[in-house]
Amino acid sequence: MFDDKTRCVVLVGVQWGDEGKGKITDVLAEQATLVARYQGGANAGHTVLVGEDEFILHLIPSGALYPDVRCLLGNGVVLDPRTLIDEIEMLQSRGVEIEDRLGVSRRAHLVLPYHKQLDGAKEAAKGSGRIGTTKRGIGPAYRDKISRNGLRVCDLADRDYCWNVVREGAATANALLAHFGVDERADPEAIMSELEFVASRVLALGTDTGSEIRSELSRGGNVLLEGAQGSLLDVDHGTYPFVTSSTTTAGGAAAGVGIGPTLIDEVLGVVKAYTTRVGAGPFPTELQGEEAERLRNLGAEFGATTGRPRRPGWFDGVVVRHAAGVNGLTGLAVTKLDVLDSFDEILLGVGYQLDGVATADFPERAADIERVRPVYEKEPGWKSDTGGCRSWDELPEAAQHYLKRIETVSEVPIRLVSVGSARSQIVRVG
Ligand code: GDP
Ligand code: IMO
Ligand code: MG
Repeated sequence: MFDDKTRCVVLVGVQWGDEGKGKITDVLAEQATLVARYQGGANAGHTVLVGEDEFILHLIPSGALYPDVRCLLGNGVVLDPRTLIDEIEMLQSRGVEIEDRLGVSRRAHLVLPYHKQLDGAKEAAKGSGRIGTTKRGIGPAYRDKISRNGLRVCDLADRDYCWNVVREGAATANALLAHFGVDERADPEAIMSELEFVASRVLALGTDTGSEIRSELSRGGNVLLEGAQGSLLDVDHGTYPFVTSSTTTAGGAAAGVGIGPTLIDEVLGVVKAYTTRVGAGPFPTELQGEEAERLRNLGAEFGATTGRPRRPGWFDGVVVRHAAGVNGLTGLAVTKLDVLDSFDEILLGVGYQLDGVATADFPERAADIERVRPVYEKEPGWKSDTGGCRSWDELPEAAQHYLKRIETVSEVPIRLVSVGSARSQIVRVG
């Protein structure tokens, strides 16, 4: 992926998250010198398998498993300091030293305990209309950021400033918690003790991520900007309101670390060979019943953050074309091809019908996306194990045909095909 002309790559999820971004980031990180997250927070769950060891990372970039890669959390991330420290210690206890090569933007906003309380209480109050969030405080933390009530990493050095923000934030949160009908309350003094406990360690990681990335590129390094969630969870371009609260798409990458978009050379979209979604919201190619169960079990589709069963469905070309446009994808990494190895026949969504009228566009309103009926092509299965394939020519002919259809329907060239969760299970194309 990286060469003389490609020095800064953005990696984004193309569907509703869990596409295998962790695995592909890990594969690309072999050639990278720096990997940075640019949005989201501990709602992400990125899985990396190194030999027999499985790591699930929520905040720290998936480049962490290579010992010489610098890892950054950009200003666009919302940072839960306790989760960060736990993750550093989890890695340390498993022999991965990260603290001396980890940096966090001093401009990144903090997720505070009342953000998590509010996330849970709002979801509970919504009942059947809930989004199904990860309850990591993401929406409330971004709301405080945008409404200018947030606390940032750099503020940890100023106790009085922190106290003012926390006192006001807790008072507002408590009014809202009462409104949502829960008994829990935020305790500003307890929050301050927690912040005092983490402050020196988090401040020691503080950096200017934009300036670091620019220097890294000027001295010839390779930079990977790792997206979290997926394009259909983007707050503007996803299935609003069933989305997360950040710009997950490539346009957010530059702003989320503090560089200009002109420094980005390629945008790689990670897409499953089928589709999954976790949480509520429309999903046109969703499967039900036994078929869903089969795909969920074959793909081990259970959330890496919450353990919830993921909703499985067929590949949706309309979703991928929409994501390709919004992100300006220059290539695709197709993952989990091996999960389809045993199917006689595989359906591939190529269009939608809305009220009997064909549409090639992705509707804006969740209510309309609920109503579309996918138009499918039937593709023959290959009925053989692809897990050992390491080159295009080794892939069964029917799998090559299926991938070619994905490429044509998406209008984006395939650069990588993943055929298993291990690092080595990758096919490089072209
Ligand atoms: P992310 O959030 O996009 O990083 O994806 P997750 O880690 O949440 O979920 C992807 C899951 O699929 C993880 O358990 C990976 O180990 C696994 N995985 C990734 N690529 C492949 C693949 O090509 N084949 C199979 N069978 N599993 C894969
Ligand atoms: P990765 O990076 C899949 C979903 C939640 C919910 C919605 C809003 O592992 O792909 P939030 O907690 O962000 O306010 O929840 O977004 N969601 C994800 N789904 N993968 C993720 O991350 C997700 N992060 C959030 O399930 O529907
Ligand atoms: Mg995940």
